[in-house]
Amino acid sequence: MAFPDSFLDELMERNELTDVVSSYLHLVKKGSNMFGLCPFHNEKTPSFSVTPSKQLYYCFGCGKGGGVINFIMEIENLSYPDAVRFLADRVGMTVPETGGESISIRRKRLLELNKDAARFFYSVLNEQAGANAVKYLKERKIKRATVRRFGLGAAPDSWDSLITAMTRLGYEKQELIEAGLAVKGSKGNIYDKFRNRLMFPVIDIRDNIIGFGGRSLGGEDPKYLNTPETLVFSKRKSLYGINFAKKTKRPNIILCEGNIDVITLHQAGFDNAVASMGTSLTVEQTRLLARYTREIVICYDNDEAGQLATERALDILKNSELDVRVLKLPTKTADGKEVKQDADDFVKKHGSEAFERLLAGSENHIEYSLLAIQNEYDLSQADQRVEFLKAASELISKLSSPVEREIYGARAAEAAGVSPDAMKLEIKRALRRRLAARKKAMEKTRPSVQYQPRDRSLRYTNVKSAAAEEGIIRLTLLDPSLISDIDITPEEFSSPFLGKVFSEIKSRYSEQRSLSLPLFSQELTSEEMSLLTHIVNKPENLSRAKHALKDYITTIRMEKLNSTSDFEELAKILKERKQAYGGYELE
Ligand code: CTP
Ligand code: MN
Repeated sequence: MAFPDSFLDELMERNELTDVVSSYLHLVKKGSNMFGLCPFHNEKTPSFSVTPSKQLYYCFGCGKGGGVINFIMEIENLSYPDAVRFLADRVGMTVPETGGESISIRRKRLLELNKDAARFFYSVLNEQAGANAVKYLKERKIKRATVRRFGLGAAPDSWDSLITAMTRLGYEKQELIEAGLAVKGSKGNIYDKFRNRLMFPVIDIRDNIIGFGGRSLGGEDPKYLNTPETLVFSKRKSLYGINFAKKTKRPNIILCEGNIDVITLHQAGFDNAVASMGTSLTVEQTRLLARYTREIVICYDNDEAGQLATERALDILKNSELDVRVLKLPTKTADGKEVKQDADDFVKKHGSEAFERLLAGSENHIEYSLLAIQNEYDLSQADQRVEFLKAASELISKLSSPVEREIYGARAAEAAGVSPDAMKLEIKRALRRRLAARKKAMEKTRPSVQYQPRDRSLRYTNVKSAAAEEGIIRLTLLDPSLISDIDITPEEFSSPFLGKVFSEIKSRYSEQRSLSLPLFSQELTSEEMSLLTHIVNKPENLSRAKHALKDYITTIRMEKLNSTSDFEELAKILKERKQAYGGYELE
């Protein structure tokens, strides 16, 4: 859908970029730009910049960039038209279009529907249709007060109980589908998505019910069914239990695997438990956690899958500012039998005090990784000991603090039965190898490689020509009046993308339309917009603009000449150029 330029211009004027961005992250002024921690990737030092004069943002870390509409598309996960509606809502503007409610009204409506659905599921517990759910809750030792606190409920074993109840309240079937509560069958029939399930409302930090998890009661697959992605629910951004955990007085947040783990832990006095619902931890969830705590305790199942998930979560968390510990649930019982368990099993078997002790003794993640390596080798064998020492020193050499390297080095030395000094030497070697490898990697990134766009599909075939094409784009955007002096066509550009941008600039100029860069987001993908932002952010000097333009054009044509092997073609180009430029000679 195309919105009129005049509308978009006003929209962008009223949604000042710094203003909009500041409601998501903290910006600090540095020179003429503002800087903050990038919301699109994990980082510890700010590389996300906003240039108020251009109304553009750009992250030097991840390369995302664009105008205010791109920002909202990225951060709110919206399509272009929905981002426009979002921004219009924000400042009370009316979007020039027929039909289609504004995004915030649709969201509010879905949240209302979710709330009414949760009330319905809860009420079912008092009815015959909820009898097996009540029985199940008892089996899992979930108390009445906990049920109320978490708003648990039951979806009856029926195809249309919820649909009937909700349409009676005035909701359309279409809305139930939009909320992920109903499904359209292949014959167009519409039925309840959740049937014969124990229902867990998923509540966000603003206490909105954004979705549901449903556990099967009759052994049907899948065991857990979650709300699909909707306007208000995104699994990768949600954490079950965060609505309570965000208010905890405890010094950390416990991350476990499942909904029932969260419930059992809360019931046992650990109001700091959350779970990601059937996905490994995401960057978005990490960011959410970082708003409420400084420390994460990972407490996944003690089986192989849990171990793997722990390693993956550690990998994500190592880029965040959060401290991380790993709580290991015992794999053996007191009498030495192997046991698979999750937090729920453990607390029910051993009580909250035992869990409290585990929590207090949970290891920091280096200890965890070191133990994991230790388990891989048979330390009674000399050759295995050598291999262990290599792997351990590799790991320890990654620690930035010398004190930590010393402490963990000594520990590994002890485990392998070698002297701490020998271990120290080994770590030093690993450190040196690491530094050498880094230096080599730096040398490898030649300027031409650095010059390439991050997005592979936008790769330049001729970097030198592309640099000149970028220059033309930069100059004409800075001073559109230059366009009338330029006698090169977009088709002559070596990069199709840059050609497209130049052609857009030309046509906007000739139609006397605005050349404000953020407006281009209507015609460009977000990758293209990021690249374009990067390009215009590079320095350019207008003082010798006409001369520079001429140089750029010459470069483009020379590069084209150099890459042409057809002699006839060559002669032809040469002749044309001579006429146009008063000639230059081939070297
Ligand atoms: N999960 C999911 N979809 C599945 C299986 C699991 O979304 N098909 C999510 C649920 O949020 C669940 C969590 O992953 O709570 C953990 O799953 P699992 O380990 O299978 O749960 P259990 O602890 O075995 O489940 P319960 O205690 O309810 O028997
Ligand atoms: Mn369980």
